[in-house]
Amino acid sequence: MSEVQDVLNSRRTVYKFTKQEVEQDKINQALLAASNAPCHKHTHPWKFFIMGNLVRQELIPTITKLANEKSQKNKSPDLAKDVQRAVDKIILPPVIIAVASKKTPSDDFREKEDYAASVCALQNLVLSFWDNGIGSQWTTGAITRHEETYSALGIDSNKWEIIGFVKSGYPAAIPKISKLSVDEISVYLD
Ligand SMILES: Cc1cc2nc3c(=O)[nH]c(=O)nc-3n(C[C@H](O)[C@H](O)[C@H](O)COP(=O)(O)O)c2cc1C
Repeated sequence: MSEVQDVLNSRRTVYKFTKQEVEQDKINQALLAASNAPCHKHTHPWKFFIMGNLVRQELIPTITKLANEKSQKNKSPDLAKDVQRAVDKIILPPVIIAVASKKTPSDDFREKEDYAASVCALQNLVLSFWDNGIGSQWTTGAITRHEETYSALGIDSNKWEIIGFVKSGYPAAIPKISKLSVDEISVYLD
């Protein structure tokens, strides 16, 4: 198996990272891989926001509010712990990259194709990191959809859709999961 095949097949979502810093050169390589993703009509519909400490801090009030609301709704026994866990999720990852895809409200098909292209770019980013020994977790949730997040990134939610936060770092653990077999996912037609 070539190294590329191995990168494609061995990648797993990583949930826990070590404190080791991710080198700028590796972030640059990942962004370059992202920018080489396919896009129909050369729309290059993606934008990557590398989130530093300041912008992460800016999101904490919203994250706290959302975590409080969720815990109250679920009648959680330990509100403070839930909030701390939610805050840690945004503070602790060595790298967080918010990925946004261009919207085209006047053309549903274009917007769908651009979303598909942005997903390809996101996956190129993740695979480039993985090739360098860096794991990633693609996350979506109330915070990635919140207006405050758009405001913190400095983008207009009418023009851009945040398709996820990619949290990356050197893996503290790599989960094992099972996938469908090739036979289960493929149909050969005569
Ligand atoms: C669109 C999308 C959204 C995702 N959102 C989350 C998320 O919010 N939280 C999370 O832990 N994982 C999220 N994931 C990662 C999946 O849970 C993960 O890919 C899945 O468990 C399969 O594991 P694997 O990536 O190791 O193959 C998301 C993946 C995709 C494609």
